[in-house]
Amino acid sequence: MNARLFTSIDEWREFRRTLSANATIGFVPTMGALHEGHASLLKRARVENDFVALSVYVNPTQFNDPKDLERYPHSLESDHALASAAGVDFVISPTYAQMYPDAYRFRVTETEFSRTLCGAHRPGHFDGVLTVVLKLLNFVRPTRAYFGEKDFQQLTLIREMAQALFLETEIVGCPTVREIDGLAMSSRNVNLAPDARMQAATFPAALRDATTADSARKRLEDDGFTVDYVEDRSGRRYGAVKVGGVRLIDNFAIAGGQTDAQI
Ligand code: PAF
Repeated sequence: MNARLFTSIDEWREFRRTLSANATIGFVPTMGALHEGHASLLKRARVENDFVALSVYVNPTQFNDPKDLERYPHSLESDHALASAAGVDFVISPTYAQMYPDAYRFRVTETEFSRTLCGAHRPGHFDGVLTVVLKLLNFVRPTRAYFGEKDFQQLTLIREMAQALFLETEIVGCPTVREIDGLAMSSRNVNLAPDARMQAATFPAALRDATTADSARKRLEDDGFTVDYVEDRSGRRYGAVKVGGVRLIDNFAIAGGQTDAQI
């Protein structure tokens, strides 16, 4: 069945009031350009809830680089088709004017973890993410919301925001889905030219297999990546690199200095 498409937040909210108070809603917020990683979140949401809602909204406030925003893929029609095939009930795709009637005067700021890792290299990024996720959770009013572990820092911050602000939604983290060669699935991967795509495949292993963060950084630099950061923090190794003008991020659990693949 075709997922019902809402392009108006007001219309969605009116409809939301008609759903039974006991019905559970699993929610997958996205910026579109859906791939297998999103499909795995939708699959889990489908199993665990009565209804599944998906949002498709390319959120400008989380892009610190206007070129990155310009290059971000838009594909609502194919996203809607993929969502319908995945058993999604509702697709919500609002406009900027609807999402930001305040013109972003009000925002959520976390002052510690968000300033590290990706936040240190993308000023304002997590303010944009947390603000848009709070808005989405407020009007979708889901029972559970699903986020991928590829964006582990984002997942942690959203989980902590939900606790700090007493949100009713359960935040569910889901394992990273990878291409056959190990590259984490990401909407940005479509922007990789063939040679950059081949090089990108070496990023996860270089990050994961090095004994220390410093040696991972060195190996990545030797392999021609521009490294934003490689850091071990709270039992996890995080990395961000650029290749062919595309920014890639990844992370692995570590124990005793070893990543999860080595344990
Ligand atoms: O991970 C994403 O796609 C985005 O950061 C999110 C959570 C949909 C907020 O715009």
